[in-house]
Amino acid sequence: MGWAAPDVEITTSRLILRRWRPEDLAPFAALNADPLVMEFFPKTLSREESDAMVSRIQQHFTDHGFGLWAVEIPGVTPFAGFIGLAIPRFTAHFTPCVEIGWRLTAECWGQGFASEGARAVLSHAFGPLRLPEVVSMTATCNLRSRRVMERIGMRYDPQDDFDHPSITPGDLLCRHVLYRATPI
Ligand SMILES: CC(C)(COP(=O)(O)OP(=O)(O)OC[C@H]1O[C@@H](n2cnc3c(N)ncnc32)[C@H](O)[C@@H]1OP(=O)(O)O)[C@@H](O)C(=O)NCCC(=O)NCCS
Repeated sequence: MGWAAPDVEITTSRLILRRWRPEDLAPFAALNADPLVMEFFPKTLSREESDAMVSRIQQHFTDHGFGLWAVEIPGVTPFAGFIGLAIPRFTAHFTPCVEIGWRLTAECWGQGFASEGARAVLSHAFGPLRLPEVVSMTATCNLRSRRVMERIGMRYDPQDDFDHPSITPGDLLCRHVLYRATPI
């Protein structure tokens, strides 16, 4: 799976955003099998699907030098999920683009961890990476995720709403919102 040496790590007061390790695979599979965590996705993931996602994340780091970082919370847990950047593989009115995303184990929710990590990732995107824009997207009804987008200062325009091309039209999860951030 190409466990490259850790290159860019991002640290905040409570979090370490780092490259993935083999021991992250089992807790990530447990997270992806949790119906609460996956409420706003079409389905939970099997162990094989979860491992394949980590392979794609590793390849993304190799190809682009950034990706979805594994989240470590010292004193709490060695693996809490991911926060980071990804280039979506589908086509829509706002692609090509770089997306910021997050997925944390439910035990860690509601303590500001996602917002703290996401702010640091945006600083990395607009600082060292010099990206002109970062977007974030989620199902319209995913209010927890939208609150994170709002807390970190991303802007929402209803005219950017779109139907996700990989979700069945008419499904409750199909309609998506798009938030945008640009360098200050
Ligand atoms: C989205 C997610 C990463 C948020 O993580 P988190 O660490 O709990 O987020 P934070 O604590 O930084 O912020 C949560 C915010 O949402 C608010 N919130 C919590 N539950 C909420 C709910 N049911 N409805 C609306 N807002 C809610 C919190 O109050 C907080 O906002 P506030 O402090 O301004 O009031 C986490 O819930 C998660 O992993 N969800 C499953 C995966 C997912 O949906 N990922 C996004 C897909 S695009």
